[in-house]
Amino acid sequence: MKRLLEPNTVLYPVPLVIVVCGTLEKPNLLAVNRIASVAAEPPQVAMSLRRGRYSMGLIQEGGEFTVNLPTPALLSAIHLIGTTTGRDTDKVARTGLALSPAAKVKAPLVAACPINIECRLTHTIDLRSHLLFIAEVVAVHAEESVLNHKGEIDYRRCNPLVYEAAIVRERPND
Ligand SMILES: Cc1cc2nc3c(=O)[nH]c(=O)nc-3n(C[C@H](O)[C@H](O)[C@H](O)COP(=O)(O)O)c2cc1C
Repeated sequence: MKRLLEPNTVLYPVPLVIVVCGTLEKPNLLAVNRIASVAAEPPQVAMSLRRGRYSMGLIQEGGEFTVNLPTPALLSAIHLIGTTTGRDTDKVARTGLALSPAAKVKAPLVAACPINIECRLTHTIDLRSHLLFIAEVVAVHAEESVLNHKGEIDYRRCNPLVYEAAIVRERPND
């Protein structure tokens, strides 16, 4: 027996990532679960940000960001990153996360994340509550420990964080 529920995307679990925008000198971080791989040649990701996020303007101005795949050890930092705004909070100072320069984009990388993806914005699509940013992947960094003998990323070695609605919720009005 199935019950008819209100429309919702209900695609769980999904990846939970730390997005860094801005620059090494003036960075900002946010937590994102509305993110997916959407094309291969060239590799592209799509990420959806709710209107009003401070990061939205930084991404639109800079045209670049990094996607950093955290491990469960970063869950409390993610909670802070995803519930405070860069408008009034220095999230790098508050979390103590070390940032390192990217190879091709101005936005830096979260050093503690074993995988970092450098992205350059190509399209912006208005989805009413959210803007969908489509971006080309221009570089990937991976810790040696997550690579197999062929030098490919083996996700079983990454212990990536996934988002289930029950853990921490995206708060619409932050
Ligand atoms: C688990 C989790 C997932 C989130 N996913 C998204 C998301 O996909 N898109 C979004 O716009 N905000 C998302 N958020 C909310 C932002 O991370 C949050 O509003 C953050 O404070 C925005 O920071 P900013 O104002 O400095 O840009 C999420 C928050 C959490 C805790």
